[in-house]
Amino acid sequence: MSEVGFGGGKVVVNRAMSLDGFIAGPGHAMDWISAYLTAADVPDVMAATGAMLIGRRTYEVARRMSGQGPAYDGGAQFVLTHRPPEEPDPAVTFLTCGLDEAVATARGAAGGKNLEILGADVAAQCLRRGLVDEILVYVLPVLLGDGVRFTPPGLGRIELEPFDTTRSGAVTTLRFRVRGPARPAPTGP
Ligand SMILES: NC(=O)c1ccc[n+]([C@@H]2O[C@H](COP(=O)([O-])OP(=O)(O)OC[C@H]3O[C@@H](n4cnc5c(N)ncnc54)[C@H](OP(=O)(O)O)[C@@H]3O)[C@@H](O)[C@H]2O)c1
Repeated sequence: MSEVGFGGGKVVVNRAMSLDGFIAGPGHAMDWISAYLTAADVPDVMAATGAMLIGRRTYEVARRMSGQGPAYDGGAQFVLTHRPPEEPDPAVTFLTCGLDEAVATARGAAGGKNLEILGADVAAQCLRRGLVDEILVYVLPVLLGDGVRFTPPGLGRIELEPFDTTRSGAVTTLRFRVRGPARPAPTGP
């Protein structure tokens, strides 16, 4: 994605993931993360982030969990939804525009820092359209068996370039550059 006009900030899909590829457990369970990873463990990532574009389901889950553990401060929060709630939330801006405009709006608010994309559905749409520069995954030592997958089925094939791997305690952090939009996966043997 072009970084012209956004001060060099990147668009990053940033996730904690179980070893079997889930970002939330059954019923959107997120309790498996805090035993290994909290906002206090990633001050550098947080400091590099200027805004977040959040899917509505992620927003609702985060609201239910608020007050549990240190808050992640990734700057201005934009929530993508087709139907904003009637009751406004002063902490976030609800966006009902198209995806490209939503990414551009949130990037503009990031002040030259990174924009994080949160939510499997929203992130998959961004990946499909080639709007993501980087994927950052914290692999946690747990198998969840079921839940919300890293990406939904049918995304297609996206080539990645690994550029960093670190391990701190139980958490392995993997970073990849995204090499382009999704292509249909080849079919047949
Ligand atoms: N492990 C991690 O690090 C991590 C990080 C982030 C999220 N999560 C988890 O992931 C789960 C949520 O992911 P998800 O894939 O189910 O949902 P999501 O991507 O968070 O949200 C999907 C919702 O966003 C809205 N939306 C999506 N695309 C849109 C578009 N183009 N225009 C307008 N609105 C749009 C729709 O809301 P409306 O129905 O309101 O229109 C849609 O139902 C949660 O359990 C969350 O906790 C985990």
